Amino acid sequence: MKDRILWQYNEFEQVGKDYSLPNEVTMYDPSHSNFRDIEKESKDVLDNLGIGKNDVVIDYGFGTGTFAIQAALRCANVYAVDVSQAMIDCAKIKAGNAGVSNITFCHSGFLTFEYDGAAADVIVTTFAFHHLPDFWKGIALNRMYNLLKPGGQLFIHDAILEQHNAMKNIEAFIEKMATAGGDFLQQDTEGHFREEFSTYDWIIDGLIIRAGFVIKSKSIQDGVIGTYYCIK
Ligand SMILES: C[S@@+](CC[C@H](N)C(=O)[O-])C[C@H]1O[C@@H](n2cnc3c(N)ncnc32)[C@H](O)[C@@H]1O
Repeated sequence: MKDRILWQYNEFEQVGKDYSLPNEVTMYDPSHSNFRDIEKESKDVLDNLGIGKNDVVIDYGFGTGTFAIQAALRCANVYAVDVSQAMIDCAKIKAGNAGVSNITFCHSGFLTFEYDGAAADVIVTTFAFHHLPDFWKGIALNRMYNLLKPGGQLFIHDAILEQHNAMKNIEAFIEKMATAGGDFLQQDTEGHFREEFSTYDWIIDGLIIRAGFVIKSKSIQDGVIGTYYCIK
């Protein structure tokens, strides 16, 4: 929003895990490698999206930049948007090491990113959307819809819960993470559900559809991790 309203959610104030801290940034890739292969994940998503060399991609909450770098290797331009300057600094170094120069790093967020380039072909956000409360997720989805070209694709991957057995599924997921990454990942996951804004799939479905998207496919792994491919 150009003229910020006084009651606008301050997305630069990190809730839960504070990714503005250099220490959290340093820990990110090593700790996540205990339960995910982010590079392979990224390549699989890019294959599914059918990214082409002329495409413009926006990645919200890019973190250490693995997806943005993999996307940049296949497309024309990536706009990598994150509220953490420490993440930007880290991802810039990784992009340089990967020999990638077609990423525009933007110190901005879902609610504040301003873009006046060509309509985007693809918008991606992985494990970042839960940083917004639900009302603001709706506002963010409206903004994303306006940035995409007709037929453009939206990919969301995040902690998104099935309502049935939600508490049991969360407990089981915390155990799974503890097995994968010990105390660090256990506390990370507990903190996520205690303080951050993961939500039910039926709420996300409604927000996505009301923003004007069609959900092409949806899956919820272990009842807690949602993957959505949507189209404008
Ligand atoms: C858990 S990390 C996810 C990083 C990466 N996308 C991944 O899949 O590993 C969440 C990232 O979202 C960023 N973030 C938090 N709130 C945001 C917002 N409102 N807009 C954009 N990025 C945000 C954080 O700074 C952090 O880098």
